[in-house]
Amino acid sequence: MIEVSKLRVDFVYPGRKIEVLKGVTAVFREGRISGIVGESGCGKSVLGTALLRMLPRNALVSGQCLYKGRDLLQAKGKELRSLRRREIALIPQNPYESLNPSRRIGKILLDAINPVSRRQARITISNMLEHLGFRDPGRVMDSYSFELSGGMNQRVLIALALLRSPRWVLADEPTKGLDPSLVQEMAIMFRDVASQIGSMLIISHDLRLAQELCDDLFVMYRGWIVERGSCAKILSKPAHPYTAGLLGALPHNGLVPIPTALREWVGDSGCPFYPRCSSAMPRCSTEDPDFYPTAFPDQETRCFLYARAAESV
Ligand SMILES: Nc1ncnc2c1ncn2[C@@H]1O[C@H](COP(=O)(O)OP(=O)(O)OP(=O)(O)O)[C@@H](O)[C@H]1O
Ligand code: SF4
Ligand SMILES: [Mg+2]
Repeated sequence: MIEVSKLRVDFVYPGRKIEVLKGVTAVFREGRISGIVGESGCGKSVLGTALLRMLPRNALVSGQCLYKGRDLLQAKGKELRSLRRREIALIPQNPYESLNPSRRIGKILLDAINPVSRRQARITISNMLEHLGFRDPGRVMDSYSFELSGGMNQRVLIALALLRSPRWVLADEPTKGLDPSLVQEMAIMFRDVASQIGSMLIISHDLRLAQELCDDLFVMYRGWIVERGSCAKILSKPAHPYTAGLLGALPHNGLVPIPTALREWVGDSGCPFYPRCSSAMPRCSTEDPDFYPTAFPDQETRCFLYARAAESV
């Protein structure tokens, strides 16, 4: 498993600091598909790239990310390269930016494997592309990324990750920008990938995709995990007002938007959802809520609405 503890990320610029992750604690379990969901800008990609140590130099990182007894945040040199090549493969958020437009797809994929022979490598790649739904793998291998559609490039990135036979796959927004008709197809493909790899982390703003795919769910808001636990439980019985708001904003639930601001911030601390929360209490603006159990054993939420029961025990 990957155990993230009190992970903080700030971006430092001359004269200012931007706080992005404010102490994320989460356990991503082996053999399961974990989803990280939340609005744009809440820190999902920063969390994913922090795990793989791919943040820019001006990122100030603290906390711990334990994997196989080692802190990923301390990995260097050979260990870091092996981590990215063999252990946790990233399927990045933007296929067009992630594939070198001056290299043919076949060449990019060849670099991902250690071929015994070039011929054997081409057969392996061709089989993989066919498995991922390409009818004419040879044509794809001879193409450049700009000659393929978004969905095809996304599948090339999946092939690139799988050819390394990693133990984990981290997919960032695997369906962003895809035609809605392709989303279902991609969900089926990811389920297939998960059954081969075993452990997967999916970052997405799409709750329907999470519902289709994920065993465990982590809901993020402004750099915090605000709810975590069983995906099915959270999406059917959301505990945190923000999760309930996200679900209420879905088309089949009436498209009710979460208010942008009901009240002003009072100070520097307190629940990050306080300005938008219709259930807020005075303590929400001054104290940081902890994780509290809900009525279900496989669900926890960071909200004072659940504190009374926990604090009276
Ligand atoms: N290099 C950087 N310097 C400063 N701020 C950054 C940097 N990278 C990310 N951020 C900020 O961190 C916050 C979180 O960014 P992140 O990309 O993780 O969001 P996200 O949840 O993945 O959003 P999306 O759903 O749009 O992909 C955003 O406010 C973003 O502007
Ligand atoms: S802690 Fe308070 S402000 Fe935050 S979500 Fe819960 S009730 Fe709302
Ligand atoms: Mg992102």
